[in-house]
Amino acid sequence: MTQVSSSTELVTEAVLRAQGVKVYYGTNLAVRDVTLDIPFNKVVAFIGPSGCGKSTILRCFNRMNDLVASARVEGKITFHGRDLYASNIDPVETRRRIGMVFQKPNPFPKSIFENIAFGARINGYKGDMNELVEDSLRRAALWDEVKDQLQESGLALSGGQQQRLCIARAIAIAPEVILMDEPCSALDPISTLKVEELIQELKQQYTIVIVTHNMQQASRVSDLTAFYNAEATEGGNKVGYLVEYDRTEVIFQNPTQQATQEYVSGRFG
Ligand SMILES: Nc1ncnc2c1ncn2[C@@H]1O[C@H](COP(=O)(O)OP(=O)(O)OP(=O)(O)O)[C@@H](O)[C@H]1O
Ligand SMILES: [Mg+2]
Repeated sequence: MTQVSSSTELVTEAVLRAQGVKVYYGTNLAVRDVTLDIPFNKVVAFIGPSGCGKSTILRCFNRMNDLVASARVEGKITFHGRDLYASNIDPVETRRRIGMVFQKPNPFPKSIFENIAFGARINGYKGDMNELVEDSLRRAALWDEVKDQLQESGLALSGGQQQRLCIARAIAIAPEVILMDEPCSALDPISTLKVEELIQELKQQYTIVIVTHNMQQASRVSDLTAFYNAEATEGGNKVGYLVEYDRTEVIFQNPTQQATQEYVSGRFG
């Protein structure tokens, strides 16, 4: 079943499950043997030093690595028990159900309104677009700041507002899972706090996986934490692997692995 050890109350249905996942870029093995479950309506944090494969594994969960020509995924990833890489699975539909928010806010060079409406329209949304735009912006805690400037460019917003716009855009297409790769690394502390509050709010409805280098953030927002590390191979390449995965409080207060202890207390990385 799951690697989540000590607590059973957190072990709900796994939405995503990685079993023995390896990712290669060309002939280089970048990450090996990742086995973990992402439980329903929880926030899972991925932490670990730079280059240990956090983004690589995150991208496996919505087939973003398909877009990297040299990337090859081995092992098994299931979404609600179905093989995510089976030939009958549509990667575009997968990315609708499993949305992504990137490190650098990347609004479309369109109006705030269109940033939300565009993806929804492409995905065949037939409802009231004004309502969807308002609702998505409200849920992303941005509505009050932008309601009088919906026709202005999304690029004219501050970085923190742009990131919340990207989150609004992600939730507008009704995903089940949101993958966030260092969503706050370009934000000031106040915007960071807003995004963290938003994650807490979104957790009621979505399953969230967040990569972060900010230990306080991981401990504030996540229920479970996966610590990755990398080791040098004989050929000199570094290969990432999952060291330990448990409830966040266990990872931060009482991890089983020494490397985890050293990392969360800031002694390396
Ligand atoms: N598009 C790519 N092509 C080739 N190699 C890549 C590519 N993306 C990542 N890698 C390699 O895979 C390994 C893992 O990278 P990844 O970006 O997943 O690490 P990370 O843990 O997210 O690091 P960071 O904390 O710096 O974002 C690294 O050795 C990296 O050089
Ligand atoms: Mg990364």
